[in-house]
Amino acid sequence: MSVIKVAILGFGTVGEGVYRTIQSHSEELTATLGKKVEVAAVLIRNTQKKRNISENVLVTTEFADILNLDQLDVVVEAIVDKEPTFTFLKSAIQRGCHIITANKEMFAHHGKELLDLAAEKRVSVGFEATVAGGIPVIQTLRQLLNINRVKQVRGILNGTSNFILSEMREKKQSFAQALVLAQENGYAEADPTNDVEGFDAFYKTMILSRLAFGEEPNWQDVEREGITSITSELIEAAETAGLRFKHIASITRLGGQIKATVKPALVGKENPFYHVEGVQNAVNVQSDIVGEITLQGPGAGMFPTASAVVEDLVHVCLNPTVKRNLTRSQEVGTEFSKHDDKQETWLVHRLTHKPITPAITWIEEVEEGTYVINASSKEVKQLAKQQKNLLYFPIIGEYERVNQVKAALKAL
Ligand code: HSE
Repeated sequence: MSVIKVAILGFGTVGEGVYRTIQSHSEELTATLGKKVEVAAVLIRNTQKKRNISENVLVTTEFADILNLDQLDVVVEAIVDKEPTFTFLKSAIQRGCHIITANKEMFAHHGKELLDLAAEKRVSVGFEATVAGGIPVIQTLRQLLNINRVKQVRGILNGTSNFILSEMREKKQSFAQALVLAQENGYAEADPTNDVEGFDAFYKTMILSRLAFGEEPNWQDVEREGITSITSELIEAAETAGLRFKHIASITRLGGQIKATVKPALVGKENPFYHVEGVQNAVNVQSDIVGEITLQGPGAGMFPTASAVVEDLVHVCLNPTVKRNLTRSQEVGTEFSKHDDKQETWLVHRLTHKPITPAITWIEEVEEGTYVINASSKEVKQLAKQQKNLLYFPIIGEYERVNQVKAALKAL
């Protein structure tokens, strides 16, 4: 039986997960591919570290050793940083290998170049593991929503942030405690700043934008904010209002323009993201034929990410001719309304005094200093300028008035 030879670059959480999954699911791989899959080589950095790798596998610190193997069919990349990763993957494609990457930062920056080069060399690129861990959202957009015109994609795309917010709310952990746990569980990036400041979710959002709309917004125009401003006090105030904090990426295309934001927002019980807890991620796609789809699943961790990689392994081996569906140009709708003037619902916190202005509708006082209001983002920003410590977060979907609900319950 012929063999598919794979090299794994990096043996951290993801690399090791892929190695172990190829061993544990070799039967399924052979049955699906009609060929045996063998890990031929692993690229490591630290030779002192003890690893559980079979002695038949070449373990090396030199990428050149891997590139010089007699047979090499697929290169799986599970290292961090843009370089030397991008250079390694270009060389692998030049050699005629399919490549699979889990590196969102590198792929957000260089995905297009890699896909173009792969198309030229007639090999495939798998990048399912770059977005939303084990959720098959890339293949869903790439293969299964080709005719639908996508209007909007929203997602909880960072497992670490969602895990921290859940731990703080459910277990009353501090931010720091929850982050340490996320690191211990192998969810966080090598530098967790990327997780908690929203950079990781930002890169994933740009990858999704390219898939859904064939292009990205200007990176500098994207409002990116992490979860570091979300305190336990805020989480409690939101709970009192029947809301939960989620770190939400949103990309919308209208009138030839793409708008994206990556920031904390609040959702109520009716929203599909309300019950997405812990390391789970979720992606909600709105398109013109099917309507709304929400995919949910584990967004980080050894085996969810390995799942995305090994499924890509099958995909790249069975579909060696690249089908590049990255040139969507369909339009849905007309134009963005003057975005800053659009009325939205907000939770404002630490309000010292209520200004008298018709531009703000005061919906409810949740507790002292915390209000739910209707206003344009321009007005809210104005308010924040006047009241220095004010915090404000958008509420996605319908807001159900808690005090009204409480009064109704009391009356029963
Ligand atoms: N650090 C990432 C996260 C890993 O927490 O979502 C998966 O991309």
